[in-house]
Amino acid sequence: MQKGLFITFEGADGSGKTTQLNLMKSFLEEKGYEVVVTREPGALELGRKIREILLHYEGKVADKCEMFLFLADRAQHVETFIKPAINEGKIVLCDRHTDSTVAYQGYGRGQDVNLLKELNKIAVNGLEPDLTLLYDVSTETAQNRVGSEKDRMESAGIEFHKKVRNGYLEVQKENPERIKLINANNSIEKVFDDSKNIIIKLIQEKLGE
Ligand code: TYD
Repeated sequence: MQKGLFITFEGADGSGKTTQLNLMKSFLEEKGYEVVVTREPGALELGRKIREILLHYEGKVADKCEMFLFLADRAQHVETFIKPAINEGKIVLCDRHTDSTVAYQGYGRGQDVNLLKELNKIAVNGLEPDLTLLYDVSTETAQNRVGSEKDRMESAGIEFHKKVRNGYLEVQKENPERIKLINANNSIEKVFDDSKNIIIKLIQEKLGE
């Protein structure tokens, strides 16, 4: 049996994934698991500096610069935080990870998707999520949920966000075992029920409990 678990939460800005991640943390802790919540970009001190540039830099950020900054943040996060936590037997819930880069920088910004997949592999150095929950919501609903205070990525426009959504759906089709699609247009309760069922099954399979 492996030690901990690595579960990533993916979806558009405004998909509700962060709410679901926090509900899941409480649920799993009540069941007695040690849970660690983290996110990309910017969970660690070094990453916070990268996050500041990615989300709030006011000048032009070249697409390739943006791509490498997300990957740099990930490399540091995986090496110094995620892998050690899994090895200590914790359940790591991560708000965004490799699929965000493929969806946003690949399908959204138009960077080469296959190249991004290779660069992701270099950044994570062999780590793969045990499970990814993809919260899919219509772009209109997502944009309404985000509201008018938008960061640099959220301000990229509706066409960009439609491409991101389609990108996520493509990636899910390519990885149906790892990535489970959840209809996030439903109520918070229903979405949580769906998420919980998937995670309980995973824990039974991987941790034998
Ligand atoms: P954040 O405030 O964390 O948003 P959310 O709560 O929606 O996760 O902002 C992260 C933003 O960065 C979000 O718009 C998605 C984007 N992003 C990428 O474009 N590529 C990536 O690899 C990652 C991890 C995030």
